[in-house]
Amino acid sequence: MPADYKKKVIIALDFNNIKDAKNLIHKLEGEAYIYKVGLELFLNCGNEILIFLKRAGYKIFLDLKFYDIPNTVYNAVKSAGLFGVDIINVHASGGIEMMKAAKKGLLEAQETAGKKIELFAVTVLTSFSSEDVKEVFDFHNNCVYGINQENTAESIALHLAGLAEKSGLDGVVCSPLESLSIKKKFGDNFKTITPGIRLKENNIKKQNTLEKENSIKNRHDDQKRITSPSEAFRNKADYIVVGRPVAHAAEPLASLKKIYRDIETC
Ligand code: C5P
Repeated sequence: MPADYKKKVIIALDFNNIKDAKNLIHKLEGEAYIYKVGLELFLNCGNEILIFLKRAGYKIFLDLKFYDIPNTVYNAVKSAGLFGVDIINVHASGGIEMMKAAKKGLLEAQETAGKKIELFAVTVLTSFSSEDVKEVFDFHNNCVYGINQENTAESIALHLAGLAEKSGLDGVVCSPLESLSIKKKFGDNFKTITPGIRLKENNIKKQNTLEKENSIKNRHDDQKRITSPSEAFRNKADYIVVGRPVAHAAEPLASLKKIYRDIETC
């Protein structure tokens, strides 16, 4: 199993209010070390949750997935870095110029904050299947050269990871299914963060009816390129992101412990 694995499991605080977020943090006290604040929570309570997490000593992944013109992203990353978070991300499809601008903003924020901040690029969302990728980019008409038609999501993820690496980013956010190929191509120092994590028992198809209804109501499961936590680490993920399987479980601590037990089988 990976050393210090509990510090590599990022819990997504996907809530629309700070009270629910704090409630989860309280329930997982002593067992969780990194929290992810995404669009939903940040738009609802802004910096307040970041201040709370920092004071309590947690690491923070501010998952706002910036995608804009280089100058805007430069300023956004710099402002995000000045909040004192530990991980920030942008979309790799914003291109090299945008990612280099993001890196410049990050370096300036790092200097002021006096600490290392990691910058990652989102490759292909884990909610995309290869069919979704083809639909968005119109590959059905074969307009792009060199795409592996068998696994379009992976080949685009590898391509975008290459742009992120060229731009000097620390790594990429990708599916756990693609982490190993990315490591093979760009080396172990180029990091991967992998959402799309499901224990086999979380798989909606295998649940009984009542659980299925709760799953659909609570989790609206949209993730398509998924693996188990242990498989993600076998594929050399540096961090995994877990949201609904813990945050929206009836017993979040018990669910997190199940995830830890699965990781211990690596
Ligand atoms: O609930 P679930 O475990 O699917 O949550 C995954 C989290 O990771 C969500 O907060 C989502 O926004 C985030 N994420 C993702 N795919 C990416 C980047 C981030 O699912 N490519």
